Amino acid sequence: MGTPLYSIPGPGAPTPESPAGAGQAAASGAAAARVPGAGEAHTVGEVLAQSQAAQVLDELDRELVGLAPIKARIRDIAALLVIDKLRANLGIQAQAPSLHMSFTGNPGTGKTTVALRMAQILHRLGYVRRGHLVAVTRDDLVGQYIGHTAPKTREVLKRAMGGVLFIDEAYYLYRPENERDYGQEAIEILLQVMENQRDDLVVILAGYKDRMETFFRSNPGLSSRIAHHLDFPDYAPADLLSIADKLLTQQNYRFAPGARATFAEYLAHRIRQPHFANARSVRNALDRARLRQASRLFAEVERRFTAEDLTTIESADIRASRVFQAAAASPQP
Ligand SMILES: Nc1ncnc2c1ncn2[C@@H]1O[C@H](COP(=O)(O)OP(=O)(O)O)[C@@H](O)[C@H]1O
Ligand SMILES: [Mg+2]
Repeated sequence: MGTPLYSIPGPGAPTPESPAGAGQAAASGAAAARVPGAGEAHTVGEVLAQSQAAQVLDELDRELVGLAPIKARIRDIAALLVIDKLRANLGIQAQAPSLHMSFTGNPGTGKTTVALRMAQILHRLGYVRRGHLVAVTRDDLVGQYIGHTAPKTREVLKRAMGGVLFIDEAYYLYRPENERDYGQEAIEILLQVMENQRDDLVVILAGYKDRMETFFRSNPGLSSRIAHHLDFPDYAPADLLSIADKLLTQQNYRFAPGARATFAEYLAHRIRQPHFANARSVRNALDRARLRQASRLFAEVERRFTAEDLTTIESADIRASRVFQAAAASPQP
């Protein structure tokens, strides 16, 4: 996965995003006490201002390209939590809403990235105490031998408590072809915790849409505990190009005149080739373009480079990719 997107802080460690002391101050359970200082909020604006959730929502809009339906769903969820807060402030009793989710979509469509933001929003709105994300796969939950699975799963749940547990490719937990598969044991523990500790842990199950649907059909208990299904579409070519612009800007690079058009051409080929992975393929392609830029400059031993030289990706840095050769070898109809 390249650079780690998430960290797993030890229990009680403050998250970098948390307002000073908020991590420990807010106790779980008592809804009115969840957002620090939000006890007296009586308007949506006050809750948003006190919780700083609006900033995370705005960042999400600004920093992530496309994803309009996903962004809209996240705003809906934030609205639910804010209104819940206002109800609690007026003494209206209700159970904490269930916020377990499924994120379905192809690789590189932004599921992990959005899960991280979701954890921050849930934290700011006081739904979870810490707002960290623990990302796991089957191997982190399921043991190899009898008696190993329950302690493994419980340990992961303990780490995730107060935040978001993100289970990638969740369907691997269920292996119907193997009668004694230990995955079932992990699912049963998850089910209990998802029901009983839902005011302090949000579980997000992620993976390919079709496999997830099959998984939910075979596990109706799990399916019925998922309140929100978010489906991440593949990015349109124009979005992929905007993602490339953002990634380059973040790293202090830019396309030379003409290089952006070459990258658009690159994408048109790459999308049709095997193992295309949306934004992740964009990131990888740019990493390789940087390598080629470096080799190109490295050859000019005597030259004194300007900042522009060092920050510019030329058309040739992209054109040298194998993707163009493969496309030339098998022209599309
Ligand atoms: N909408 C987006 N805007 C900008 N960058 C994105 C977007 N979606 C994904 N990325 C980038 O693409 C990479 C892969 O995204 P990721 O969230 O890991 O996808 P997934 O979990 O669906 O496989 C990450 O580096 C992320 O920063
Ligand atoms: Mg991911």
